[in-house]
Amino acid sequence: MLPAVRRNPTAVFLKAARRFGDVAYFKIGPRRGYLITNPADVRHVLQDNARNYHKSPLYEKLRMSLGNGLLTSEDDFWLRQRRIAQPAFHRQRVAALASVMANAAQEAATEWQTIASGGHPVDVAEEMMRLTRTVVLRALLGADLGPFGRTLDHAWTLINEHIGKSFWSLGLADKFQTSKRRRFEAARAVLREAVDHVISQRRRNPSDSADLLSMLLSARDEETGEAMTDEQLRVEVTTFLLAGQETTSLALTWTWYLLSQHAEARRRLEEEIDVALNGRPPEYIDLVNLPYTRMVIDEAMRLYPPAWGFSRQALADDELGGFHLPRGWLAFVIPFVLHRLPAFWRNPEAFDPERFSPEQSAERPKFVYLPFGAGPRQCIGNQFALIEAHLVVATLAQRYRLHLVPRHRVEPWPLITLRPRFGMPMIIERRNSVTP
Ligand code: HEM
Repeated sequence: MLPAVRRNPTAVFLKAARRFGDVAYFKIGPRRGYLITNPADVRHVLQDNARNYHKSPLYEKLRMSLGNGLLTSEDDFWLRQRRIAQPAFHRQRVAALASVMANAAQEAATEWQTIASGGHPVDVAEEMMRLTRTVVLRALLGADLGPFGRTLDHAWTLINEHIGKSFWSLGLADKFQTSKRRRFEAARAVLREAVDHVISQRRRNPSDSADLLSMLLSARDEETGEAMTDEQLRVEVTTFLLAGQETTSLALTWTWYLLSQHAEARRRLEEEIDVALNGRPPEYIDLVNLPYTRMVIDEAMRLYPPAWGFSRQALADDELGGFHLPRGWLAFVIPFVLHRLPAFWRNPEAFDPERFSPEQSAERPKFVYLPFGAGPRQCIGNQFALIEAHLVVATLAQRYRLHLVPRHRVEPWPLITLRPRFGMPMIIERRNSVTP
């Protein structure tokens, strides 16, 4: 299946699930494994028997770029890193960072004034990428990137594309294309320099702010009391930069796209925001009064999960759905497919935020909605991302309405994350109903 999976992995996995049911056998290049779609099997691999699984060899590409950190490491080392970082992500701590998120969203709203009056389309995918990067940079590192701000931007794009395009490759392409390889290495060096600059700056001027970097610096392993080494710190900061920016920006981009296509949902969302905020800029405490806004974001991540698929490798023989899974084989868990299983989602291709009302959510089994994964390796930035996305949508939808450029082709592009293949050019219209 290698050529087909390389061409369009989401379509291949979706078709296999529809045709073969709970467990579908795959041979992708030299790798063998099962696509699993029964919630019980998914739970078995990600949670109940998680100790028998490592992230699959496909993550090797990520490890090469990010280093051996939270996202890519395994076993005791991973557990230690997770324990060190975890306190920084407790809900209350993340809530304390909400003002950073709200301010960044307000700044974007102010910048959009000029764009809106010009009437020209902007690529909302790029806008969201810039905004979520600002949030992660400020929340993680404090505001100052020094001389590295600009170069980091370019390096970033290169790294993302390189990993995304080579994800399913067997390593051959990398060996032959030395010029690409060199550009990639140069981009990694820029990223490393920027992260070093920020860490050493903070060490020279310790700040009182409760941002993630100061938390990471002061974090101690609960059992041993140890802090992170410099190298680990660098790897983790890089991981948070990449993992925190890309996924959240895509969740937002797909949300704007879906809202532009569904006038009734957009009307309801705007009404909720106008009533709850009465023209005030949204803050963390307002989120509880904006449930429909959150349902829209949840539904956008159902149809377009930014982390559309992940995989594990069995350390010892196992059994999945009555089938033998030999040691070394892979288990594919594909949220893009799970989120469309007709057994759990009526009319799965339709956009319907009501699916995430408390009543409908209560009826649905766990492990069929996994935008953030599950089990011990579940996304550590889950709350961070949700609070950020909620605040950003509320802030921008309060003042603007986004329209997709007519006839623009929108196509999900499953790299490591699910990007819009041709970008998301939209016209930003100022809403008249509210005073800024
Ligand atoms: C909508 C936004 C996000 C989505 C959809 C998302 C999705 C995911 C998923 C599916 C995983 C698990 C991957 C696997 O099991 O193989 C994961 C892990 C992770 N995510 Fe996120 N993520 C988001 C935002 C963030 C943010 C904002 C941060 C940090 C600030 C972050 C940091 C991480 C890290 C460090 C891990 C690895 C955790 C571990 O293995 O212990 N993510 N994410």
